[in-house]
Amino acid sequence: MRLILLGPPGAGKGTQAKHLQDRYGIAQISTGEMLRAEVAAGSPVGHEAKAVMESGRLVSDDIIIRMLGHRVEQPDAAKGFILDGFPRTVPQAEALERLLAEKCMHLDAVIELRVDDAVLVARISGRFTCNNCGAGYHDTFKPTARAGVCDVCGGHEFIRRADDTKETVAARLDAYHRQTAPLLPYYASRGILRAVDGMADIDEVARQTQMVLSGLRTDI
Ligand code: AP5
Repeated sequence: MRLILLGPPGAGKGTQAKHLQDRYGIAQISTGEMLRAEVAAGSPVGHEAKAVMESGRLVSDDIIIRMLGHRVEQPDAAKGFILDGFPRTVPQAEALERLLAEKCMHLDAVIELRVDDAVLVARISGRFTCNNCGAGYHDTFKPTARAGVCDVCGGHEFIRRADDTKETVAARLDAYHRQTAPLLPYYASRGILRAVDGMADIDEVARQTQMVLSGLRTDI
């Protein structure tokens, strides 16, 4: 199964992608996480991406398309994948279409997580992640069961993203509406766009996503 999760920053793409990865055993491919790893490693790509990401703008299509091309060739993506944060522009979507066609593959669905802009700032500003295992939490919507202890690995160190400031979130939302939202009619015209109410709580969004996927004719 090959899916795209599409939605604005904070819509819940990463949260739902992890659910799907656990449920179906297919790879979550997050271009945002890949870029943050490049920044942390101090690589040339990381150097180029850092300031762009912290300003809330999009990293160049060239860099992203090259990075994604390498990633989907990894063995863990052979069975299928969930794209989280890619594509984000029409040129990226076109590049993906070419890449999949070369491999005689196709996309099964594009799932749009619909969330009003007003709640996104609250979601993003409350987000934190375990520094050891990467499990994601939220101060209000998904706190750890025991304060200061990761539910998954028992870790005690948590991090907040450098681009999760109020100002940067506004720029990221603007980039979403100008550059990414045009992908909705792009995929609707291909008959593979499905919408889920991303305003519902995390479990309900997972249930609705599950319903959409159970209607697809795929092997997984
Ligand atoms: P990226 O890392 O992709 O960030 P994003 O798209 O802005 O999305 P987020 O990770 O902020 O949100 P999400 O939808 O995954 O929400 P989450 O599940 O965490 O990109 C970062 C930057 O990298 C970009 O700005 C850009 O510069 C660059 N970049 C990346 N890909 C690129 C590309 N393809 N092209 C160019 N540049 C690229 O949820 C958010 C919070 O809300 C969490 O705390 C969660 O617990 C909570 N939550 C989730 N769902 C719910 C719910 N239903 N109810 C209540 N709370 C919820």
